[in-house]
Amino acid sequence: MTERTENDMKRALHQVMASIVRRIPDDRFDRAFPPRWRACSARHWTPVEVAVCAALWFAESGARRILDVGSGVGKMCIIGALATDLEFVGVEHRASLVEAAREAAELFSVGDRASFAHASVDGFDASGFDAFYFYNPFGENLHVPSESLDSSVELGHERYMRDVRHAKEMLRDAPVGTRVVTYHGFGGRVPKGYFLDRAERIGTDALRLWVKYHTDTPNDGAKPVVDDDDRSDGACA
Ligand SMILES: C[S@@+](CC[C@H](N)C(=O)[O-])C[C@H]1O[C@@H](n2cnc3c(N)ncnc32)[C@H](O)[C@@H]1O
Repeated sequence: MTERTENDMKRALHQVMASIVRRIPDDRFDRAFPPRWRACSARHWTPVEVAVCAALWFAESGARRILDVGSGVGKMCIIGALATDLEFVGVEHRASLVEAAREAAELFSVGDRASFAHASVDGFDASGFDAFYFYNPFGENLHVPSESLDSSVELGHERYMRDVRHAKEMLRDAPVGTRVVTYHGFGGRVPKGYFLDRAERIGTDALRLWVKYHTDTPNDGAKPVVDDDDRSDGACA
């Protein structure tokens, strides 16, 4: 089989898998998680439709190994592994969420391509990934305490500033070609050197795919640098 035929077949398989997964209603999918983590799904976990779209964008843009920054109950990683043949790793600072994510990944038989590390992102080695996913991971720091997931980790404005700064540095240090998908952003601007490749409004926000084209901070004029607020059409297949 030629490489092209193999890629065409892979793409067709992704489309079939994605269309099957996309039809699963969120409340149905969330049954894979313990009741306490189901209840906060609408607010804290990526909806199925958004996760499928993000996973397809990663696959179509050539990513192979994706880090979900603040992976929660693992919904993005598990759906990504179901809908594509990519590898997803989640880093999550709450031990109980990591445990729930690992159990759910086993339930869906994707534990080999959806794995989870118990760590804070600022203490995690993010090299070895060619793509990152951010679903507003640090926003909880700015919530009133009654709206947080629990009180098992440090939360607050100081933590927020630290984590956002670290995420920016991570993106700044990432190699050319790195893909980043954001949904509700990450609290900061995607650094210069990335261009907005696709954007589509889904659910409560725009899903955006950024690709790094240059290592230097200043724009060299080769590609337009756009703000996180800019939009372009990028209909999800
Ligand atoms: C909005 S949820 C998104 C969960 C998952 N990415 C998804 O899309 O379904 C953000 C998650 O990030 C985690 N988180 C926040 N700050 C973190 C940090 N510094 N290191 C690791 N995890 C973090 C929270 O515990 C929470 O589970």
